[in-house]
Amino acid sequence: MKIRPAELRDRRRIHEILVATARFTEDEVRSAMDLVDSAQEHPEKGEYIVHVLEDPDSGPKKLVQGYVCYGPTPHTDGVFDLYWIAVDPKQQGQGIGQLLLRFVENEVRRQRGRMLLIETSSKESYTPTLRFYERSGYDEISRIKDFYRIEDDKVVYCKKLTPS
Ligand SMILES: CC(C)(COP(=O)(O)OP(=O)(O)OC[C@H]1O[C@@H](n2cnc3c(N)ncnc32)[C@H](O)[C@@H]1OP(=O)(O)O)[C@@H](O)C(=O)NCCC(=O)NCCS
Repeated sequence: MKIRPAELRDRRRIHEILVATARFTEDEVRSAMDLVDSAQEHPEKGEYIVHVLEDPDSGPKKLVQGYVCYGPTPHTDGVFDLYWIAVDPKQQGQGIGQLLLRFVENEVRRQRGRMLLIETSSKESYTPTLRFYERSGYDEISRIKDFYRIEDDKVVYCKKLTPS
């Protein structure tokens, strides 16, 4: 498995993965793609950083199996946000999400980050996702009840990162 910075040619595949997860509304997919585009158009700002994971054994096209988008949280000293992470549903549950998350944690450490935050939703379809974060060592540090809609809370997960 190889993790590399996303390029323009990955745009379609990232969009395909986001839609295929069946987890996100059209609006959410648009927001996710806006960040992918911002990362491509303004890499110098360093606001959004996008990496893809490709399987070198998946034929000449080296199919991208998942992607992650993260960046430094504005106006903080050493805090980063994980904005999106998604893995092709055909490949989920095989450790690809873990690889992407560990990669981001190491990048954050490398950039002298001390904390990685993940905002997510409490709705039922996210139960496996919340479990994924918890098993990866993230703690729920805040929750706004009924934030997205009634019975859909905003949950913030956090992991404090120590230098490796
Ligand atoms: C959440 C997500 C990125 C995890 O990636 P993944 O490659 O499936 O995760 P891994 O294989 O590394 O880890 C699997 C663990 O995550 C959990 N998990 C989450 N979604 C899962 C799925 N669809 N299938 C199996 N396990 C899943 C399980 O608890 C599993 O733990 P286990 O090993 O104890 O069984 C991926 O499932 C995904 O793209 N989900 C839809 C999009 C999403 O919710 N993104 C996050 C919001 S921005």
